[in-house]
Amino acid sequence: MIPIKSDRDLKIMRGACAIAATVLDRLCRFAREGVSTLDIDLAAKKYMEELSCRSACYHYRCGKLRYPGYVCVSVNDEVIHGIGRADRILKKGDIVSMDVSVVWNGFVGDNTRTVIIGDCAPEVKALVDCTDKALHAGIAAAVEGGRVGDISAAVQSVVEAGGYGIVEEFTGHGVGREMHEDPQIPNYGIAGTGAKLRAGMTLAIEPMITLGSSEIVVEPDGWTVRTADGLPSCHIEHTVLVTKDGPEILTLPLSDEELGIYSAGKIH
Ligand code: MF3
Ligand code: CO
Repeated sequence: MIPIKSDRDLKIMRGACAIAATVLDRLCRFAREGVSTLDIDLAAKKYMEELSCRSACYHYRCGKLRYPGYVCVSVNDEVIHGIGRADRILKKGDIVSMDVSVVWNGFVGDNTRTVIIGDCAPEVKALVDCTDKALHAGIAAAVEGGRVGDISAAVQSVVEAGGYGIVEEFTGHGVGREMHEDPQIPNYGIAGTGAKLRAGMTLAIEPMITLGSSEIVVEPDGWTVRTADGLPSCHIEHTVLVTKDGPEILTLPLSDEELGIYSAGKIH
C-alpha cells in the first residue's frame, strides 16, 4: 500500500527533506581534492547534529549486516552504498555520489548528488549531466493520475537516448515514516503501467546510471555496489511530493533566512 501523507505529515516531511538537502548541500561544498571519504562521513555526522536530525542509514539493517556509516559515499565505479574510508582520498577527476537520508521528527528525507572533483573526463561529465536530466524527466512524470511506470519510462528514455546503462537491481521508492515505503520505482519501465499516483504521495526518485555495462557486483563488505566493468557510475536523487498542481521537489536546502529561524528553535 502506498501511504498518502496528511497535511500534518507533510509539514514534517517538508522539514525532514529540507534538512536532508541542507546536510547534502554542505557536504557537496566540503568534498574536495585531498579529503577522504571518511572525512565526508564524519562531516555528515557533524552537520546532522548541528541540524538536530539523525542519519537514517547509520546501523540500517540488511539481513545480518548493519550499515556502518552516516551517509553513503560512492566514488567513480562505486554505484551506491559506498562506506567512508580514511584511505580513500579524493583526487581531481573523481566523481563522488553522496546519499543523505535523515530522520527528523519521525519522517525521512532522502537525497543524493554526484559532484565532480575539479574537472573530469568529458564523457564522465556527460554521464553526470544525463543522470540529472533523467532524474528531472522522472520528476516531471510524477503527476496525480499518472502511474509509477510513467516515471520509470521517462527516466529510461533519457538514459537510453544518451547510450548509458541502467542499474536494474536497485530502485527509487516511497519515503516517509520509513526510508523505504511502497512503491518501488525502477529506472526502467512502461508508461501507463503500475500503481496510480495520487496527491500526497512522497517518492524518492533516483536513477543509477553507468557509463558502460549496467552489470554490478557487491564488494566483500556486503554493501558497496560497483560496476562489474570498473567504469564510472552516477547516482542522483530527490524526494518529490505528488500534488494536484504537479510534482514538487521537497529536497531543496533551507535558505539562510529559514536556517536562522530553524537554528533559533522556532521550527519544530
Ligand atoms: N538512502 C538510500 C536510498 O536512497 C539507502 C541507503 S542504504 C543504507 O534508498 F544502508 F545506507 F542505509
Ligand atoms: Co533513496
